[in-house]
Amino acid sequence: MIGSTPEAAGQAERSWSLSFTVNGERHELAIQPERTLLEVLREDLHLTGTKGACLEGECGSCIVLVDGVPQNSCLILAPQMEGREVVTIEGLADGTVLDPVQRAFVDHGAVQCGFCTPGVVLSTKALLAGNPHPTYDEVRRGLEGNICRCTGYMKVLAAALAAARAGVADDASGQADRPRP
Ligand code: FES
Ligand code: FES
Repeated sequence: MIGSTPEAAGQAERSWSLSFTVNGERHELAIQPERTLLEVLREDLHLTGTKGACLEGECGSCIVLVDGVPQNSCLILAPQMEGREVVTIEGLADGTVLDPVQRAFVDHGAVQCGFCTPGVVLSTKALLAGNPHPTYDEVRRGLEGNICRCTGYMKVLAAALAAARAGVADDASGQADRPRP
């Protein structure tokens, strides 16, 4: 039998036990402590809706909700998630029924390549949870951490405002009416 290498032994020693909740499901993982939340979500939990682009905290593509607050998962070390509740884009839809914010983005054509969209949608969810009836300028400020490289922002802003008009934040069941045009 071949014994473990010093490198493998060192990696095992640095393994970190992480217990956290993702999209309502409890996970217990053994991870290396230098890994980011983004890496663990995509590589260990196969939740590839969360995108990595700049990996420097500049673009918002990797945003997830941590205890309801939008966070750049590329900047968070996974061990920091101990005991926390994370929501990714996969946690919004109810089966094949889109979350009302997702619905608004589709209805307003606010998605092109879609790379930024999970982060924008989650930022919108958090914005409307804290401010159910934002003004145009409040939506702009609320989404300023999200960069889109292809739609421009007008349709994104229109979608977010439509979701607000539909009362997304007032409807915890996620079954709000479709946004009005
Ligand atoms: S990939 Fe995390 S902010 Fe750009
Ligand atoms: S839809 Fe392509 S980056 Fe935003």
